Amino acid sequence: MYNFKMLDTFYVSLFCITTLILFIAFKWISFDSNTKKTLPPSPPRLPIIGNFHQLGSSPRESLRDLSNKYGPLMLLHLGSIPTLVVSSAEVAREVMKTHDLVFSDRPSLSIPNILFYGSTDIAFSRYGEYWRQLKSIVVLNLLSATRVKSFRQVREEETGLVIRALEESRGSIVDMSALLGSYTSNVLCRVAFGKTYYELGFTDKLKKFVDMLGTFCVGSYIPWLSWIDRLSGLRGSAHAISKELDHFLEGVIDVHLNKKMGSGDETQDFVDILRDIQKDKTIGFRLDTNTLKAVILDVFVAGSDTIFSSLDWAMSELIKHPRVMKKLQQEVTEVAQGRSTISEDDLDKMKYLKAVVKEALRLHAPLPLLLAREARNGVNLMGYDIPPGTQVIINAWAIGRDPVSWNEPEEFKPERFLNNPVEYKGLHYEFLPFGAGRRGCPGLHFAIVLIELILANIVHKVNFELPNGVKDVDLDMTVANGVTVQRKFPLLVMASPRV
Ligand code: HEM
Repeated sequence: MYNFKMLDTFYVSLFCITTLILFIAFKWISFDSNTKKTLPPSPPRLPIIGNFHQLGSSPRESLRDLSNKYGPLMLLHLGSIPTLVVSSAEVAREVMKTHDLVFSDRPSLSIPNILFYGSTDIAFSRYGEYWRQLKSIVVLNLLSATRVKSFRQVREEETGLVIRALEESRGSIVDMSALLGSYTSNVLCRVAFGKTYYELGFTDKLKKFVDMLGTFCVGSYIPWLSWIDRLSGLRGSAHAISKELDHFLEGVIDVHLNKKMGSGDETQDFVDILRDIQKDKTIGFRLDTNTLKAVILDVFVAGSDTIFSSLDWAMSELIKHPRVMKKLQQEVTEVAQGRSTISEDDLDKMKYLKAVVKEALRLHAPLPLLLAREARNGVNLMGYDIPPGTQVIINAWAIGRDPVSWNEPEEFKPERFLNNPVEYKGLHYEFLPFGAGRRGCPGLHFAIVLIELILANIVHKVNFELPNGVKDVDLDMTVANGVTVQRKFPLLVMASPRV
């Protein structure tokens, strides 16, 4: 007995001494390596949670305020994850142009891993040959200019339905946000599936999916606490939501398997096109059924809330600024030349409309922090050493309102985009609603035509007033908390016929 106790004490002491030596060695090594590194400025952090407590309920604003103090290139720690925060056009150019290849990875996050079939979609996929091939297949086959054109009829029909609903409202209060939301999801559903699937409650399922995607997951930031996500039921709920949507998508694919295709390419929806690619042995890429489903989910998740948010804010700004609304209506009237509808061919002539949409996206970038990136290897960025694995947040919202790049940045003034070369394509780093570089948004053309067409037709056909005697200037512009920037309260209007 006695000997065993001696042995126990010996082993315990040995364990403690070894741990202490390892701890001191680790601290010494990390101190030594950090002293040799020049890291970007950082606000002080707390143990375990790091700087999380400083994000507040509106991270884009808190990060902007912090960067006003610590600079446009700032290093935070979200839990144990070092996170670079970029808040100026100059630094964004360095990250997304000069060092784009280094910063083209996405971090591996637990919830997207569950929801997107192990992140085999485009948006959450790690950088590499798989992502590159999948993205180019999708850009070429689903989102090319020709393919976007092929869905013209869908957009025009759905635009017609919105106009009809506004005309039939006859002065009663209309929930404009709801109307724009269903326009967006109807177009996306018809383009992706060939029909809207209202009856199967697809929109509700998708909402649950998107909400889950925006849920904070402890394990992604403090890996040793990931058991909390299991215990709290978060991972279980994510699996349940994923299963529900998977079941729905299996059903849609089955319907497409049994569908007799017409001869014309224009009748094909996204599922048809992806099924054809699956069968094509010449492209050298195996698009399995889970990847097909992941891509379809990308289209909805990346496309629906973003397009809806752009429309909702553009309408809100137009109603809040009658001067701009009047100027846009004059342009539409000139272009329409007595016709009752604006067609997609007219859009190129509408310079002011384009400026209005850009200005709305400058002030209300739907993904204000874009999608997080990750450094694939260590790099020297503007004199600072960035270790591999550092996450990167680009605060596009703050950059779009930076007084260094924009005069009167908080004002809604579409004129700033007239006779101005600033475009969406990610070459002008002061304006990044669609991101830039290799990871930039491939849905840009798809989204812009959808937004411009409906706005042009709405303002052409209808005049607006706010209900209950609220003045235009007093329209509430409060933003809700969430991943995409949405209005906190729906936009309620009263519509009267204009032409
Ligand atoms: C107004 C509408 C939209 C906005 C503002 C928007 C914005 C963005 C942003 C900011 C990113 C991240 C870019 C980056 O990391 O640099 C992104 C990525 C992406 N978007 Fe969009 N998007 C919109 C519509 C769409 C649509 C309609 C689709 C598809 C039909 C789409 C598909 C994607 C995909 C697949 C990615 C991931 C790209 C990658 O990781 O390589 N987006 N989008």
